[in-house]
Amino acid sequence: MAIDIYLSEEKIQNRIQELAEKINKDYAGKELHIIGVLNGAFMFTADLVRHLNMPVTLEFMSASSYGDGTVSSGELKINLDIKSDIRDKHVLIVEDIVDTGLTLTVLRKNLMERGPASLKLASFLFKPARLEHKVEIDYLAFEIEDHFVIGYGLDYAGRYRELPYVGIFHPEKES
Ligand code: PRP
Repeated sequence: MAIDIYLSEEKIQNRIQELAEKINKDYAGKELHIIGVLNGAFMFTADLVRHLNMPVTLEFMSASSYGDGTVSSGELKINLDIKSDIRDKHVLIVEDIVDTGLTLTVLRKNLMERGPASLKLASFLFKPARLEHKVEIDYLAFEIEDHFVIGYGLDYAGRYRELPYVGIFHPEKES
């Protein structure tokens, strides 16, 4: 078997409920505009919003960052943009993983320029071993070691996103 279970479905769901409770407290009395970042964050976004109790609007966007990893400002290529105007809205970006931190650094800058009332970040995973661009994660589900993880939205060559758990992938063992 090329996959070892790293974060079980139960552990993930319990943690998401905890995160949602914190988000519910922080945004009590406010409306929240969620921006899920495709593709990886589709599952985390879907599970997280089920536990939110404030009025929520939801959109997805898709963006890739370009940079050699040594510069602090990369270029952002927006593959799919949101359609709404986020000016004066409370916005929460929902990501699956902060790895080098480049994507979130440039995405955050791009969204800040659109004038939201507030902009926070929820990330399912954070891999500090690979961080090159410091990103403030307001709501983090799990900090993980430097493993090749798949499942729960994360892929290897486009596969395994549908798994309800996070696994450590060993490509050399794949048959
Ligand atoms: C992943 C992830 C983040 C980014 C994090 O996206 O969803 O957006 O990489 O990496 P970074 O911190 O090093 O910038 P990916 O480009 O793999 O696309 P996907 O979500 O479609 O899998």
